[in-house]
Amino acid sequence: MTSALMPTYARQPVGFSRGEGVWLYDTEGRRYLDTTSGIAVCGLGHANPVVAEAIADQARTLVHTSNLYQVPLQEDLGRALRDVSGMDLCFFGNSGAEANEAAIKLARLYAHKHKHIAEPAIIVMENSFHGRTLATLSATGNKKIQEGFGPLVSGFVRVPFDDIAAIEKAAAENPNIVAILVEPIQGESGVRAPKAGIPAYLETLRAICDQHDWLLMLDEIQTGNGRTGKYFAFQHSSIQPDVVTTAKGLGNGFPIGACLVRGKARDLFGPGNHGTTYGGTPLGCRAALATIAELKKGPIENARVMGERIRAGFLRQLGDLGVTVEGAGLMLGVVLPKPCTELVARARDAGVLLIVSAEHRIRLLPALVISEQEADLLVDKISALVRDFLSEGASA
Ligand SMILES: Cc1ncc(COP(=O)(O)O)c(C=O)c1O
Repeated sequence: MTSALMPTYARQPVGFSRGEGVWLYDTEGRRYLDTTSGIAVCGLGHANPVVAEAIADQARTLVHTSNLYQVPLQEDLGRALRDVSGMDLCFFGNSGAEANEAAIKLARLYAHKHKHIAEPAIIVMENSFHGRTLATLSATGNKKIQEGFGPLVSGFVRVPFDDIAAIEKAAAENPNIVAILVEPIQGESGVRAPKAGIPAYLETLRAICDQHDWLLMLDEIQTGNGRTGKYFAFQHSSIQPDVVTTAKGLGNGFPIGACLVRGKARDLFGPGNHGTTYGGTPLGCRAALATIAELKKGPIENARVMGERIRAGFLRQLGDLGVTVEGAGLMLGVVLPKPCTELVARARDAGVLLIVSAEHRIRLLPALVISEQEADLLVDKISALVRDFLSEGASA
């Protein structure tokens, strides 16, 4: 049968009919250890019973009204996010790209309202990923994603990730800069962490933003919701950003995104400035409220502990082959000394689902509820595959 879908994805030849925790079952009933959790989405694992019950109960009660009216569950979710983030106010959308669109609009409003800059610019990073809408793909630091879609949205100044001198140079050259938009750990480009660590990098960025009166806007769409072992990755540091965006793990698979603000960014949006039909429906908010409540019961700390266990396991089993590990919590990049995209199919045949990005980085994003036994299995299975793979070139 021919597919009726646009071929926008290079899909693998496997599909799934059910999941449980870190496990997925394909349409033939074969079981896979899922190290992707839907690309950092199902932090509480597949088919989490508490989230499933919250969604089912809410679906029976009230799915959608509209932002024409008060949405009490949206207020509850706003307060829950305020509690876990230390931010002040939230705007709800349905995806990461939409959350970043809100952030980009906020930076522009900030420029026009407070800095009287007619053509504002935002500093963004090389190898970043911020989404596929026109503004967010323009912010994204990947030419392949932008190719064919020009003219791009203007107003972005690109610098290398983790390069403070480049930001200072941009500041000296461009008086129109009003904000920095950055991922605390770059995800899509293969899990790249700042060399001096998240605290030092973010604290320096905060100081630069304060010095120039810019907004510090963190894209925590992937790093948020417990992924790195704190609710948000910026909480590894002592700073508070002006804007934080998140999505992915917020609804454990139910599509919901949020843009959180405080300080200079707090009071920029007013009635009519922004909106979306599905943003913060009772159903989405209920899913996210259940997810946050469950995350706080242990999975975030588990992400920290299991992340260390997995990192140590890989270094023990593969360190002699020049393999290194980057990242934090359960957002880990296993860096191989040679390109390894073919490992995706080999791992799948061995019952493990994994992502390879930037050609020679295995990107691990398992569910935050992974057990010790499952974490050890993940390390053993992937290490065996990598050892065989790396030995091939050596013996040829
Ligand atoms: C850091 C980051 N920002 C933004 C996005 C875009 O999110 P979405 O695909 O929900 O639009 C992603 C998705 O991978 C991401 O990892």
